Amino acid sequence: MSTAPVTGPQLEPAAHGRQPDLNIVDPSPATGFTRDVAVIGLGYVGLPTALAYFAADQAVLGLDASAARLVAIGAGQVDVIPTDRARLESAMFDDRFQLTADPAMLSTAAAVIVCVPTPVDSHFVPDLTALRAACDTAVRHATPGQVIVLTSTTYVGCTIDLLVEPLARRGLRAGEDVFVAFSAERIDPGNSGTAQEVLPRVIGGATPACAERAAATLAGYAEHVHQVPSLATAEMTKLLENTFRAVNIALVNEFADICRTLDIDVTHVIEAAATKPYGFMAFTPGPGVGGHCIPCDPHYLLWQLRKDRTDAPMITEAMRQIAGRPGRTVDRVREMLAERPMAVKGARVLVVGVAYKPDVADVRESPALEILQGLRDLGAAIGYVDPHVPEVRLRDGVVLKSLVDPRWFNPALVLLHTPHADTDLSWLTPGQPVLDATFGRLDVADAVAL
Ligand SMILES: NC(=O)c1ccc[n+]([C@@H]2O[C@H](COP(=O)([O-])OP(=O)(O)OC[C@H]3O[C@@H](n4cnc5c(N)ncnc54)[C@H](O)[C@@H]3O)[C@@H](O)[C@H]2O)c1
Repeated sequence: MSTAPVTGPQLEPAAHGRQPDLNIVDPSPATGFTRDVAVIGLGYVGLPTALAYFAADQAVLGLDASAARLVAIGAGQVDVIPTDRARLESAMFDDRFQLTADPAMLSTAAAVIVCVPTPVDSHFVPDLTALRAACDTAVRHATPGQVIVLTSTTYVGCTIDLLVEPLARRGLRAGEDVFVAFSAERIDPGNSGTAQEVLPRVIGGATPACAERAAATLAGYAEHVHQVPSLATAEMTKLLENTFRAVNIALVNEFADICRTLDIDVTHVIEAAATKPYGFMAFTPGPGVGGHCIPCDPHYLLWQLRKDRTDAPMITEAMRQIAGRPGRTVDRVREMLAERPMAVKGARVLVVGVAYKPDVADVRESPALEILQGLRDLGAAIGYVDPHVPEVRLRDGVVLKSLVDPRWFNPALVLLHTPHADTDLSWLTPGQPVLDATFGRLDVADAVAL
């Protein structure tokens, strides 16, 4: 849609951009929508989504519950790929991009996209606190004619539970008064190789009209939109995608263990299998799985199956293996020290890279945190170096800072954990014992594979 220029008080220029205006006046929805799209939740996924819409010439409102996050975005202090950084720099000086903490502003947008975190708690039970709050906000401020798209990964039936039914209780019927759909995000933070707009979006609507309207909203920036017959199909598609990854990662980790026992280099095996042009997809073994998706999303499925007393033994086992992988990495550190021979208690162990994946600053669910904690619990003296992560807080509350010069740490053992592109290993000395959980991606001669 085309939009009228946004009116109202604008944000003051800051050193790097504009500060978010937290009390902006609501341009009355009675005059029609003044924005194409509003994004609720401007995190690793929501901010790039908002910027993709902005880059596609849409008028965008970004809503976040965290004032600190809004200020960080306004100051450009965010962990985004270079394309998004450039987009943010121009967005902050453009009236078509506005940040707010005021949920009432949502009624000014023709479409509302919900993009808040869906983690699991320490018992692997879905934590729907943020999603419930964000959907409640969307429902409270829903306006006739609006499109509302849930994009957070979640269980099957969630869009009905948190949007369609509450909207109906407000007298807004999906497909008639408002248009409700589910379309999971597939963005790969830190990966500059795949532009967000070329990632196909899968969309399912509460009704065919919902699907059509929501597909048009997504087509505002996405080049490919794939419609599926229902909300449940779209919700389940995301769960299949991420469960597929989880199961295959668990499998390739098991192959890595088997290959070590049989004295075979698993990376050669994977590379060779990947020459098969069909029916094989290469996965890389590692010290565990982190981030906000793979360690969490399959638990949304397992959780909802428990209600129906339904079992999914293969997924359950894969998730058990994934959860146990950092602990097995700690065991390998202990074994390698014992071979020297050296007790883990008092040994100095240095972890290289603590982000959950290369080239991001995100440590959510990172195996490194569990490994560091596990080593600390065993009495090791731990340290880490990561150019993207200045400090980390472990489960027991201890805060570690990235070492400025790892040479001074004088480690008994180095664990290669996250292969950032800018990892500097020039400080490694010949003969230094190195356990390689990156399986060759940091290319250290004589490193022992995990
Ligand atoms: N991070 C990924 O790689 C990735 C990839 C694809 C899909 N996803 C999915 O996308 C969703 C969002 O993940 P993320 O990584 O962007 O999360 P995030 O934690 O990076 O960001 C979420 C943002 O939402 C804000 N927020 C929380 N509750 C809010 C509320 N009630 N109202 C307004 N703002 C609120 C937070 O302040 C935060 O800025 C999750 O469901 C996740 O599974 C994530």
